[in-house]
Order: sequence, then structure tokens, then C-alpha cells
Amino acid sequence: MRKQNSRFTVVVTRQIPGGGIPLLRAQKDFAVTVSTLNRPLTAAELKKFVKGADAILALLTDPVDGTVMDAAGKQLKIVANYAVGFDNINLSDAKQRGVVVTNAPSELICENVAEHAIAMALGLAHRIVESDKFVRKGAYCGWDPALFTGTLLVGKVFGIIGTGRIGIATARRAHALGMHVVYSDTKRAPEMEKELHARYCSKEELLQEADVVSLHVPLLPSTRHLIDTAEFAMMKKTAFVINTARGPVVCEKALLRALKTGRIAGAALDVYECEPKIDTDPNDHLELRLMDNVILTPHTASAAIEARGQMGEIAAKNIIAVLSGKPPLNPIK
Ligand code: GLV
Ligand code: GLV
Repeated sequence: MRKQNSRFTVVVTRQIPGGGIPLLRAQKDFAVTVSTLNRPLTAAELKKFVKGADAILALLTDPVDGTVMDAAGKQLKIVANYAVGFDNINLSDAKQRGVVVTNAPSELICENVAEHAIAMALGLAHRIVESDKFVRKGAYCGWDPALFTGTLLVGKVFGIIGTGRIGIATARRAHALGMHVVYSDTKRAPEMEKELHARYCSKEELLQEADVVSLHVPLLPSTRHLIDTAEFAMMKKTAFVINTARGPVVCEKALLRALKTGRIAGAALDVYECEPKIDTDPNDHLELRLMDNVILTPHTASAAIEARGQMGEIAAKNIIAVLSGKPPLNPIK
């Protein structure tokens, strides 16, 4: 695979949209190989594919641990993740091997996820998806004062858990809709407090007060099942929960129970605990899919074409920096 005279082998585990791959190919001393399978590689395929790589451009569907890094070889210098999240990469294995890990915190991705979270909040409040299904199946027989009565978002409380860039971008939109923003995080975001009159509070207070609870934390040991039975128990019965972060941040079984018992009013999920499976528990037989007060999207909160393009360029730039002996732009420590 190695081109003659090229000093660095760069592998990309799947075709990605936009300028990222062309940017890599434009480097004279890079030999770039892109997987043509157009699906996630199996563990065995991934190990074979990365052999000899100096840089791996990985997708969030590629679990990259020490065995993959060892399969690449000692020359491996960087794993650049084509994602904002990085829970698919084993950071301690990378550190042990001196491999740099970067993510791609694209501004447009942050805007994109924020728009998606707000679209979901509006979709739940206005019952867009179930109304659409109703009209499509020919059930609409005339205006009815009680048909699909929803709720307003204006004047309600929007709770943001996790105020990284995506959380802040979402808060800004909630504020623009006339909602009161409350947030919880391990640290305060003073600028957001000033700009949006957002109020900092504990997770517990937030859960008690929020009409919409939107999750924007990375998946870490400390955020796994951040929202579980006890948390649902604190929420308003009218609350909507939105997860555009990572599936395991919410205990899906507890969510299912909360929805079934009317503990909360609805949920919108872009990510799943056992992605791409929709329900965690096989006995529940895809119950989430049957619920009208649930909106489900297939991990597409960051799927605007502009955003995906920018993300690829960021991943490529991290690879170019590290292979030219410069510090990475977006290191994960
Ligand atoms: C998408 O989920 C991402 O982390 O970019
Ligand atoms: C509803 O369509 C109204 O005119 O009030």
C-alpha cells in the first residue's frame, strides 16, 4: 500500500464527506488509504487495515484499543477521531504507547447538534412526529379542538446538563425561544450566565425544575447512567428528556420504565445504549419504537453536510500537524 517515497502511511477507516481526505491526499509525503467497504470494519478487518499506519483517521464506530494500536505497529503516532466524542478510543492504551489521540470539535458540529436537540424539543412539545404519522395514515378527518394538544416551550425551563460548546450552543437557542435556561456541570460557565441569564444549579435542582432536560456531557465513567431511576423520579411528570450525547449516559431501562409509567412526558433520542440496537433489553421487544411520545433519530444530530465536512478537515489537520512534528490541534488527554 505504501507509495514509493512517501514517508507516512495514513489510513482512513471509511469514506467520509468533504475536504478531509483530499487534504490528506494533497500532502506529498503521505500515502493515504481509505477503506472502500462503506461500513464499519470488523475488529479483525480493522487490525489488518491499520497495519503499518503512522496515522489512523478513525470513526466513532471503530473501537480503537491497545490491540488495534499494536496491530498498526510501533510507528503509529496518532489516532484522529472523526467525532466530537472519543469514548470509542482507549485513552490509557494510547498514552502507554505514546500515541496522540485527537477529536474533532467542529464549530459547525456543535451548532448542528444544538439545532437537532432544539428540533427534538419542539418536535416533542408540538407532537410533530406523531401528528405526521396520523395525517399520513389518512386519519385526519377535520379540525378538532382537542386533536394533538401539545405544550408551549416559551416561558418554560430548559435544563442543560453539560455546558461544553454543544451545551452552550443549545442553551443559546433555548433562550432565543423564550425559555429560561438552567444548567448543571462540574464547573460554572460565567459567560453563559451573563449572555443568557442562565442559572447554575445542582443536577438535582435542575431535574426538579426543568420542563426539558437536554444532555450534553461526554461519555466518561462518571457520566455513565447519569440519568437513572433516581433521576427520573425527581423530574416533573410533564418533562421531556433529550439525549444527543451518548446512549449510556441514560439508563435506557429506567427511561423505558419512566415513559411507561408516565413518570415523564416524553423523550427524544439520537443515541442508544447498545447502538445501533434501539432497546437495551431484548424482552422489551423494541418498546421505545412503539411509543408515540418518543422521537428516535439514528445518531444524525451532527449530520448536516457542512458540519461533517468540517469535522473531516479537523481530523485531517490533526494528522498533518502530528506527522509534521507539530503539536496536535485538538488533543485528548
Ligand atoms: C458524534 O456523535 C460525535 O461525537 O461527533
Ligand atoms: C386554528 O387553526 C385557528 O384558526 O385558531
